[in-house]
Amino acid sequence: MQSFDPPPGTQHGQSSVEQLPAIVDRLGANADAKDVVVVTDEGVREAGVVAGVTDHLPGTPRIYDGVTPNPSVDAVEAAAEATADADAVVAVGGGSVVDTAKAACALPAFRDSFAVLRAASADVRPPRPGASVPLVALPTTAGTGTETGHWAVISDHDVDEKVSVGHPVLRPDAVVLDPELTRSLPPYVTAATGFDVVTHAVESLTAANASALTRPYSQYAFDLADRNLLRAVEDGENLDARERMLEASYLAGLAMNNAGLGVVHGISHAIGGLYDTPHGHTNAVLLPHVVRANARRSTDAATAYAALVDGHDDPGELLATRLTELRERSGLDRELPDAPDEWDWQAVAERAVGNVNTETNPVAFSRNEIVDLCERAFERS
Ligand SMILES: [Fe+2]
Repeated sequence: MQSFDPPPGTQHGQSSVEQLPAIVDRLGANADAKDVVVVTDEGVREAGVVAGVTDHLPGTPRIYDGVTPNPSVDAVEAAAEATADADAVVAVGGGSVVDTAKAACALPAFRDSFAVLRAASADVRPPRPGASVPLVALPTTAGTGTETGHWAVISDHDVDEKVSVGHPVLRPDAVVLDPELTRSLPPYVTAATGFDVVTHAVESLTAANASALTRPYSQYAFDLADRNLLRAVEDGENLDARERMLEASYLAGLAMNNAGLGVVHGISHAIGGLYDTPHGHTNAVLLPHVVRANARRSTDAATAYAALVDGHDDPGELLATRLTELRERSGLDRELPDAPDEWDWQAVAERAVGNVNTETNPVAFSRNEIVDLCERAFERS
């Protein structure tokens, strides 16, 4: 049996941020609910993006800008404290901000305990259903697609690992996709986050839980990202390209939340947990290598890739070559920022084999195969 959870109420397109007052009214405990907290980070605030949102909110919303990249359990608890009494939370930011807000807003339903949330099974009622804080997500990057789903990636610094926590309570109650909010993203961030979209599309297409209800989202997300990523990287002011990338991110997010991902994300989360490398850039380097390996060992994966590249003669190689070209043209080097002097691939592989995303890859990868793949992707010429 498979399930498909539809997206939350979504406003999208240029100027959709103007719908915020109506959305907040709808979500508030009463029509006059005005205690709104904007959750964001310093960078988004300093770029002036938050002001472009609060201008559309009634009254004077409180602003919490304490979210950090690769958010930790402590960061979630701090955000939960700042938002505990709010009638509604408006998350304005990239994946770190939206994930932090999702977990923080859900925390009251889990007795304010991250450990209780982490241990919760998705099909079990939380200890305090209804105690969560209503959340509107406004992504400022076209990347994670986390606004569509009920998973949040949180770093557990006690074990140097990123953990995925998931429960339906975490899913935002409303989403606004306004390309204006992504206009100030520099080319590198546009490229790296955009490659996360590409990776979500490709991995969800062949994931273990992919179905007739998810594959169209994966395929169309890939098509949109393939046609618009370079346009958005080369001209950040191109709001049409920005809008298409936000749509691609959302559709890929919807696919991955229902189908699962694959070993690129399993390895990428392991590398990110150990070395704090940029997630989308890490995926961009790994993805062609995983596509080749999957296509060699799974006819179903090769057939799925053939639909993306419109070619049946060695589709794995065709897709891998195209992805490598797209990475290079979008300005993403094979060398990652924050790469260590010496990689510990055994430690990466140890974490990657146990990652939830690795389980839904179309073919199994052993520790040694992950070590070999990482060496090929990042080190061998
Ligand atoms: Fe991702």
